[in-house]
Amino acid sequence: MAKIVEASQENITKAGRVITSGGVVVFPTETVYGLAASAFDDDAVRSIFELKGRPSDNPLIVHIADMQDLEKVVSHVPVWVRSLMEKFWPGPISFVLSKHPNISKVATANLSTVSVRMPKHEIAISLIRASGVPLVAPSANISGRPSPTNAHSVTEDFQDSNITILDGGDCEVGIESTVLLCEENKGIIVRPGIITKEMLQEYSEVQILEGWGDKISKPLSPGTKYKHYAPQASVFLVSRFPVLQDSNTLWCEFESKRNDVVSLQEKNVYEIFRQADRDGVREIYILDNPKIQSQKALYNRIQKASEK
Ligand code: TXA
Ligand code: MG
Repeated sequence: MAKIVEASQENITKAGRVITSGGVVVFPTETVYGLAASAFDDDAVRSIFELKGRPSDNPLIVHIADMQDLEKVVSHVPVWVRSLMEKFWPGPISFVLSKHPNISKVATANLSTVSVRMPKHEIAISLIRASGVPLVAPSANISGRPSPTNAHSVTEDFQDSNITILDGGDCEVGIESTVLLCEENKGIIVRPGIITKEMLQEYSEVQILEGWGDKISKPLSPGTKYKHYAPQASVFLVSRFPVLQDSNTLWCEFESKRNDVVSLQEKNVYEIFRQADRDGVREIYILDNPKIQSQKALYNRIQKASEK
């Protein structure tokens, strides 16, 4: 059974030792909880793929705590990327850059690039420092399931393993980081997050493009081709709710004001999906309207969760 522990300095130090001896630990970040291992340790990284049931061609994000650690992860940073890092780190954005040879090939699925991020969460930063190495960390869920945004949700997916979960309460953001593929003269968002194209463009002299959802994002970011974020209940995006509502169905709307319709946002979407499963809900109906479509990251997760 996965074990939730208080994120005391003592437990963080112990968790750091687990990582340096080749183990895995779950930690909170501002986006979602992550399942962490040393980015230099092939065997530890392999165990993450096994625990999650993750396809081996879907690369992981490497997490750092300090700017000095960047050079241990990547081999080159274009100037325009450095400015964005200064502006948005620590925070919910990952930059895909050419990789440092020491980073595990298992972590990067044999690609020549690596995704790197500095999370904005005290416990995450303390764990990275206690480990003394950059940490790979995919979301701490079984592949395909909604990402966990609290410690209890992590235990639901890892009941039979004895991993330790550092408790950080509820995640502030609730959905995963923006993933920006960085070329010398342009950036392409391959996974949308709460840091948007407009926000990045304001601080960047090169063009920032949106590249998810269409054909080009598939070769650019291997993870986007898989089904994701889905509860056991079927998710439907609908232009109007069905006539009948009963205990098998749940109605949701972005920023709902109706009593019989759950109000959905980035912060609560995954927990609403997980609670629906706990309650035995079979069908989740989400109202498709311009308001929710303008929330590109949220809309992306719902579209993926509703894929058959
Ligand atoms: O917010 C987050 O990013 C969370 C927390 C724990 O930091 N982590 C997370 O990791 O969402 P994961 O493994 O669930 O998602 C990683 C995404 C995948 O879509 C993957 O395809 C993409 O990042 N990715 C990683 N490395 C890449 C690379 N070299 N090129 C393109 N895409 C990459
Ligand atoms: Mg994930």
